[in-house]
Amino acid sequence: VLVVHNETSTGVTSNIAEIREAMDRAGHDALLIVDAISSLASIPFRFDDWRVDVCLSGSQKGLMLPPGLGILCVGPRAIAASESAKAARHYFDWRPVLKENALGFYPYTPATLMLAGLRDALRLLIEDEGLEAVFGRHRRLAQGVRAGVAAWGLTTVSRDADCHSQTLTAVELPDSISGQDVVDRARALYGLSLGVGLGEPQINSFRIGHLGALNELEVLATLGGVEMTLHGLGLQVELGSGLAACERTFLDARATDGALDALDSVRARVGASKAAS
Ligand SMILES: Cc1ncc(COP(=O)(O)O)c(C=O)c1O
Repeated sequence: VLVVHNETSTGVTSNIAEIREAMDRAGHDALLIVDAISSLASIPFRFDDWRVDVCLSGSQKGLMLPPGLGILCVGPRAIAASESAKAARHYFDWRPVLKENALGFYPYTPATLMLAGLRDALRLLIEDEGLEAVFGRHRRLAQGVRAGVAAWGLTTVSRDADCHSQTLTAVELPDSISGQDVVDRARALYGLSLGVGLGEPQINSFRIGHLGALNELEVLATLGGVEMTLHGLGLQVELGSGLAACERTFLDARATDGALDALDSVRARVGASKAAS
């Protein structure tokens, strides 16, 4: 069973735990293989609890690195399946990788700079900010973006609040303007990189990414750019409406989850660096 955890074209997140339960109920021993490319390190992913057999991810999204590393987590059932699989393979055979990794090596020349970057990214995510805070930040940023979209009178392609992606938002547009126009104008006038709508061709949309090394002010700048773009294309959006809604959401979320924690962690870090010097 192949599942995309976080659908980057529509901004919908799948419930992997429920898919696992459905597989258990069906009593089928299929492997569960999950694409976590746009979710890993941004929203919770529980390889062991969900009994995922293979998780595929990449370096370029929540791990905040350039593209280039394919990252796999492989469980014992998948390894056993690969032992008996008949498919011809060489470079993509993970058996020599596992063997050499156990000795601290790779069977091929590794992308050493990317691995050094990965070590730093993991330190930032796990030690400096902490994964729970990283997940909270992504939730907060996504809520802010969705509040902005609603204030413009637009809807997200994802309709079910339980499935909204916390890493990107696809925004549906009226027929009067196309997703491509929004993307082109935002890039040309403001140097803002948005995504065109993907997937269902009948859904006229564009996408706002909000994952990785990103904070509230960067999201506000993005929403400001989108707001000016939509206004410039003749859509009736009140300037400042999306920004105000987003700011309100950020302030409310900060009041309830973690503004003080963040301050405490900055104080702790400043204290630690003073002590070190
Ligand atoms: C969920 C998901 N799967 C797969 C891919 C493809 O990744 P790549 O372009 O590294 O092959 C992407 C890229 O954005 C993605 O978001």
